[in-house]
Amino acid sequence: MYEKLSQDLQNIELLLTRTLRHATGTLTAIDRRPAAVVPPPAATLPLPEHGAGFEGALSEFESRWAPGFSGSAGPRYLGFVTGGATPASIGGDWLTSIYDQNPTSGIDSAAPDLERETVDRLRQLFGLSAAHQGVFVSGATMSNFVGLAIARESFGEQRGISVAEEGLPALGAIHVLSGSPHSSIYKALSMLGIGRKAVRKVALLEGREAVDVAALEAALDALQGQNVVVVANAGTVNSVDFDDLQAIAALKSRYAFWLHVDGAFGAFAALSPEHAHLVAGLDAADSVCVDLHKWLNVPYDSAVQFTRRRDLQIRVFQNAAAYLGLPGENPDFVHLTPENSRRLRALSAWFSLAAYGRAGHAEIVGRNVRLAGRLGERLAGHPRFRLLAPTRLNVVCFTLAGEATEARVQTYVLAVRDRGELFISPTVYAGTWGLRAAFSNWRTHEEDVERAFASLVAALD
Ligand SMILES: Cc1ncc(COP(=O)(O)O)c(C=O)c1O
Repeated sequence: MYEKLSQDLQNIELLLTRTLRHATGTLTAIDRRPAAVVPPPAATLPLPEHGAGFEGALSEFESRWAPGFSGSAGPRYLGFVTGGATPASIGGDWLTSIYDQNPTSGIDSAAPDLERETVDRLRQLFGLSAAHQGVFVSGATMSNFVGLAIARESFGEQRGISVAEEGLPALGAIHVLSGSPHSSIYKALSMLGIGRKAVRKVALLEGREAVDVAALEAALDALQGQNVVVVANAGTVNSVDFDDLQAIAALKSRYAFWLHVDGAFGAFAALSPEHAHLVAGLDAADSVCVDLHKWLNVPYDSAVQFTRRRDLQIRVFQNAAAYLGLPGENPDFVHLTPENSRRLRALSAWFSLAAYGRAGHAEIVGRNVRLAGRLGERLAGHPRFRLLAPTRLNVVCFTLAGEATEARVQTYVLAVRDRGELFISPTVYAGTWGLRAAFSNWRTHEEDVERAFASLVAALD
């Protein structure tokens, strides 16, 4: 065995203890780490012929790379929609590497059953009925991709062909109706051969990002007899607006379409008694996307995809090889997603759900929503800020008073970043350049809102 490998094996306990010290040191100081850092100029070094061993690699990482990492797992990283990692989920993530299971096959390990249990617990968390079955994927983009792939196959089924076998030309055009689709929908359509141009934006309700259901019905009426997907949005990324899922689902009795719901983070409204009505109707969807590395606060990368049509999902993703076996009643995951071999992605979510249950995760959601509301009120009351939308759930969408040009907003984002206290991201909302502060980290508390607000004010000058 290569000498450094065998030395590391002999010293594994010592070396992992050193790594643990680094990890706990990082975690306990996460509040003091700048929320975001200016990336230092990258000085990449060539491949070493002889490595430095585990300890040498750790020392090099500590000196060359760790100082330049952001505090994105910390309490005041409010950019994008960024979750942290609960203590138990970190334990689960570490053990994922230790056991290094490949949950593709169910005849050599209990790992796939752990994943099935986790998916089913998530189904219960989001209030979906047992008609929905789920799978783990790497993120909401892949979850949207899988949902739309099953939709594509459903159109083939209606026409007596298998798109999985014959290819897309056998099917013809697919139309995708949506009010405020996330950019990942376009990306998924590009990957699926359906094409980005398949999206037809439907009119929104006045002053909202939610779709006008009457306009949607008119579009469905005009497309009768064609292949139609409705992508309903449960939590838009800017203003966390929700389409009326119940009203959209009711249209299914009159029009034939596949209903896909992108609830990447909005599905977590189900955990808040005051907001659960926003996702009433989610269960009626044919496919549902929910991210887990956002509001479940598990480490990257993790998301879940639910569907009522597992049979079609198998048709799309079946990996036919004698050594992999045929998908039976309880298909192996290898037949359900784009991936083949992969990590036991469920373990970190399993740990967090087992450790904190529904109540623990509901507390995180409730607190984040409260804190977003508080920051929204603070900003609304300050003459140099202006809210662009009401704070409906966990994202504050606002802008600078006066003329909010792109240059002003981008300069301001960097000024906020450079103060080190918090990170927010720029956006365009209804044609206006603005800013987003998204609350989805379990560590964020009242005092973080005060610090964030003070820093936002200080960065104005
Ligand atoms: C509504 C929505 N859908 C999809 C995504 C894509 O998520 P991911 O980056 O995990 O692929 C996001 C990310 O913010 C989102 O907010």
